[in-house]
Amino acid sequence: MAANQFPQRYAHIIGWGKYAPPNVLTNDELAKRVDTTDAWIRERTGIGERRIATKETTATLALRAAQDALQVADIDPVELDLIIVATSTPEYIFPATASVIQDQLGAERAGAFDLSAACSGFVYALSVGAGMIRSGQHHTVLVIGAETFSKIVNWKDRATCILFGDGAGALLLRASEQPGGVLSTVLGSDGSGGELLQVPGGGSRNPASLESVMNNLHTVKMNGREVYRFATRVMVDATKQALDKANLSLAELDLLIPHQANSRIIDYAAKALNLPPDKVFQNVERYGNTSAASIPIALVEAIQAQRVQPGDHLVMVGFGGGLSWGSCAVEWTTPTRERQITPQRAAQSRLRYRWSNFKSFSHRILRRVDSSVTHILDRIENNNHSGHSG
Ligand code: UT7
Repeated sequence: MAANQFPQRYAHIIGWGKYAPPNVLTNDELAKRVDTTDAWIRERTGIGERRIATKETTATLALRAAQDALQVADIDPVELDLIIVATSTPEYIFPATASVIQDQLGAERAGAFDLSAACSGFVYALSVGAGMIRSGQHHTVLVIGAETFSKIVNWKDRATCILFGDGAGALLLRASEQPGGVLSTVLGSDGSGGELLQVPGGGSRNPASLESVMNNLHTVKMNGREVYRFATRVMVDATKQALDKANLSLAELDLLIPHQANSRIIDYAAKALNLPPDKVFQNVERYGNTSAASIPIALVEAIQAQRVQPGDHLVMVGFGGGLSWGSCAVEWTTPTRERQITPQRAAQSRLRYRWSNFKSFSHRILRRVDSSVTHILDRIENNNHSGHSG
């Protein structure tokens, strides 16, 4: 069969969810720890407060966002083909946080992997997920951005610790022959700027050691001014490129969802693109920079604020460590108003997740029992063999 006989497939966003830890850290509270003020932080960054994990981890935040996305779409986890978690603060070096989520959701048919592209990670993950769908490899893909940067910032460094917060956001993608959904993606990298924003320790270059800990290599190091200059340039260029690739003009853009790092960077990009404030979503004031989670959290809040309707054209644009950047144009197709989760559906889901947890627990126990019994049987067999041969 000729390739062009296959119908064109599109990746539509059919579910969305977000979660942030309830614990709030205000600028005034931060000012008690480092030499800063609420006024300085607000003026230079637009940040007023951020959420900080207490008991939560990256996986627990990601799981809550993922569960909401599945509920909104009314999709069972067993229908998932693939789970991608964009994160720079994974649960472990390995296994992947995505595998933890796959198990906890009971997504028995899904493949799972983490994607590392710092604050651009979510757009990268969305691009991969949409590409898998468009190529016909997968039908239903869950894309999550989740971070607990509070665990990797140096709480004594006022230049960085004021910026970051914790949270997670998730989007559910599904294949359809109906045009729309993810229209274009643009990904970029300039590794020559890697040292401008990095966590130098914990990888193969500087493995964890007493020395690496003493030298504080496991926390975020950043040249703020240089990252700022880079950010203002790529936000504008990448937004235009995503629109061009999707054959859309700037006038056709209904809402820009930029990475929420600094309101001055967002305002600069909006001005350079000639976009009025109602076409640019901002929530950095309440969350700070949640890295790979910032774009999906912002999109979900935009949906909840009824700023996204079917037929709208959106661009999500991110930048960060790498240096890296990414943008993505979307034609929104899913109704957003009536997407309320009924108490009955919520109860059903809770039951499903309890059952998955129970199954996962029994698999672990069975694996241990199986391993012990097999070990004992092997020893008996070996003893018998040596008895015979003796
Ligand atoms: O996801 C990507 C993550 N990274 C970013 O998006 C970061 C991009 N960069 C930025 O957002 C800004 O560069 C910052 C908000 C980090 C800093 O703002 P800035 O206007 O570039 O400040 P600066 O680094 O040029 O520092 C200005 C002054 C310095 O004092 P001196 O040398 O002029 O005396 C800093 O020591 O502000 C001082 N300063 C602070 N003062 C009070 C730096 N941090 C603080 C602070 N409170 N928290």
